[in-house]
Amino acid sequence: MKLSLRLITLMILGVASWFVVVSCATLDAQQMGGKLPPDLVTDYVYRIIKSERTIYGKYVVQRLKDENIVRASEHWQQDKALPLPAQMFRMTSELASENSAFSYGAISPWSLNENNLPNTEFEQKAMENILTTGLPYKDYQVKDGKKYYSALYPDKAVSAACIDCHNQHPSHKQRYPDKVFKVGDVMGGILINLPLDP
Ligand code: HEC
Repeated sequence: MKLSLRLITLMILGVASWFVVVSCATLDAQQMGGKLPPDLVTDYVYRIIKSERTIYGKYVVQRLKDENIVRASEHWQQDKALPLPAQMFRMTSELASENSAFSYGAISPWSLNENNLPNTEFEQKAMENILTTGLPYKDYQVKDGKKYYSALYPDKAVSAACIDCHNQHPSHKQRYPDKVFKVGDVMGGILINLPLDP
């Protein structure tokens, strides 16, 4: 009798702990599914941005130029040309952040467009960091009273086209005559601002 009571108690304890383990695992899975860590989210957004830029540059701009069909030009509307990859990037980012605190864009201390200079304290610190380490920099920041998780990814001169266009651009020659980009240099960064309370 004493033995069977002990056995029943053990069985109840066993079943109870199994329930605890299963419910904890389910809760964990739900949390993982419902809330992704913000640095993973910025990494995914960055992958999309980078892929889109690469494909537009390679299969649209370069291909149509090689086939003598149409070229890309900064004054694409007047010239009936394709927008430059940098302009395409800016237009898509403006559309993506319309009516939302979410935003992304390219910034640089040697920017061709003055609106692309590092502005906030985070942007300046992040830029200093990526220029010295060549690695992404991520942190929380408060901007215009709103809380963000922000990330800056290094934007490197992957080809001669990057440096030729920037080094020879009238705006670059006028504002940064001493800065001559070389292939492989970090030319700026891709900034992603993830609003934490949208
Ligand atoms: C044909 C010219 C051209 C080429 C090629 C080019 N860019 Fe740009 N880039 C521009 C222009 C023009 C802007 C400014 C766009 C704007 O108004 O926001 C710009 C903007 C940028 C910015 C934001 C800071 C700024 O200068 O305003 C970065 C960073 C950048 N480019 C990096 C690159 C990299 C890296 C490559 C090569 C993969 C590249 N660019 C190729 C013309 C070019």
